[in-house]
Amino acid sequence: MIKIAIAKGDGIGPEIMEAVLKIFDAAKVPLEYQFVEMGKWVFDKGFNNGMTPDAKNTIETLGILFKGPMETPKGKGVKSINVTARKTWNTYANKRAFQTLHGVDTVFSEAGISIDLTVVRENIEDTYGGIEHMLTSDVAISRRIISKPGSEQVIRYAFEIAKQKSAKRISCAHKANIMKLTDGIFLNTFYEIAKEYPELKADDIIVDDLCMKLVTHPEIFDVLVLTNLQGDIISDLCAGLVGGLGFAPSANIGDDICIFEAVHGTAPDIAGRNIANPTALLLSGIAMLNHLGLTASAATIENALLYTLENGNHTGDFGNKSIPSLNTTAFADVIIRNFGKVPKTNSKKVTVDHPKQQFVAKLNENLMMETVNAPKESIAGVDFFIQCDRQPNEVAKIAEMYNSDRYKLINISNRGTQVWPAGSMYTNLVNQYTIRFESNDNLGLSQQEIVELYAKVIKDFKVCSVETLLLLDGNKAYSLAQGQ
Ligand code: NAI
Repeated sequence: MIKIAIAKGDGIGPEIMEAVLKIFDAAKVPLEYQFVEMGKWVFDKGFNNGMTPDAKNTIETLGILFKGPMETPKGKGVKSINVTARKTWNTYANKRAFQTLHGVDTVFSEAGISIDLTVVRENIEDTYGGIEHMLTSDVAISRRIISKPGSEQVIRYAFEIAKQKSAKRISCAHKANIMKLTDGIFLNTFYEIAKEYPELKADDIIVDDLCMKLVTHPEIFDVLVLTNLQGDIISDLCAGLVGGLGFAPSANIGDDICIFEAVHGTAPDIAGRNIANPTALLLSGIAMLNHLGLTASAATIENALLYTLENGNHTGDFGNKSIPSLNTTAFADVIIRNFGKVPKTNSKKVTVDHPKQQFVAKLNENLMMETVNAPKESIAGVDFFIQCDRQPNEVAKIAEMYNSDRYKLINISNRGTQVWPAGSMYTNLVNQYTIRFESNDNLGLSQQEIVELYAKVIKDFKVCSVETLLLLDGNKAYSLAQGQ
């Protein structure tokens, strides 16, 4: 028996979890469940991370959490338990498999176009750090963190998935034409890792082009790997291609802890009525069984599910309206009755189970992931984000007075667009500028010199934020303003 932690979740969570566990039990899946306390009601009891210490301990011991959707209380300043769980336990890859399900009509299934897409989304970094600040009462800033080690973890996982799937293609989607450093790291890392998998066709695509191609020719893609926010949007787009959120499973994969859940939320509008569609949670459960080596159980259940759908059985949210819909429990019962049946298309081969408990390493300290042979760093200059509602020339006149034999004012930008030394009267301004100073020579600046410059700037302006300008192996590692 493999032990896993289960959190039933909020809203429709308990109903769909009950249906899925009934199917697992009927299939005699060799799993032992430990139910843990997580969700809105745990927040309400005063646990600010939405889980009890016991729940945390159980999950960190067993390494597998199978969870129903959970609600984040609104307006209490608490962070989403779903995002917190994924980040705390470093489930760095979010894998979602989308395939044509016969019986679930879509424009593509009706056109005879078969979809089999796997989206691997980075799960920790990007704007999901939720690191945001108001610089002035008019201007907010969000930090988008993309790291090389973080990108390596998820991209390597995506290549492994592509290999297992015998994928015809693995594509990295990005916006590196605009975000040259953040998406640049992700894209460069993708091609570095691609060299280790010469048997796979690896290519890249700008994310907006991907959106257009996914809705016109979804069949040309196989495995996609993306950063967190872009991956979030693309995953939901792909869910729409195969019939909607009711059919979108998700696996959050880490080296120690993995979380399996449906993509959809708690569906408060239909909660408590036993009418929710359990398919997405069941598909997530099937992914969990495969992950644990329980491939025979997974194949039996998946074949029964596909057969059930093929034969027109459906809950109220999808399917042929001329066939009466089933409630959650009845839908699960039909799947159970269909054990041993094989669907006409996409049937899975039932082999034997190779059970493996998730291995959770015992750690005494946090893992520091750092690139070996890192490039040589020096400081070329500094950006001061200042609050000011004057015209660019007036700002420049003051800031140029800070010039010294060590550094000088290079440019001034507003919302990333250069407004000094050259600019346009047609650039609208907000009350927050960035003034950039660079070293006069290639010796660079010291932190002490930056502090001295800071002391000059605050005499005239409110400084909202400071960013040093790095040179890595002598190359500029910061963006230029538009028009610079
Ligand atoms: P939602 O996914 O709960 O609902 C969107 C629409 O889809 C609703 O009309 C709902 O009835 C329908 N729907 C969703 N799942 C269904 C199912 N299995 N069967 C039939 N119909 C289904 O999204 P919404 O309303 O934006 O969020 C509700 C709550 O869920 C929020 O508190 C949100 O924070 C939470 N949430 C939790 C997630 C998680 O635990 N991973 C993910 C997304 C949202």
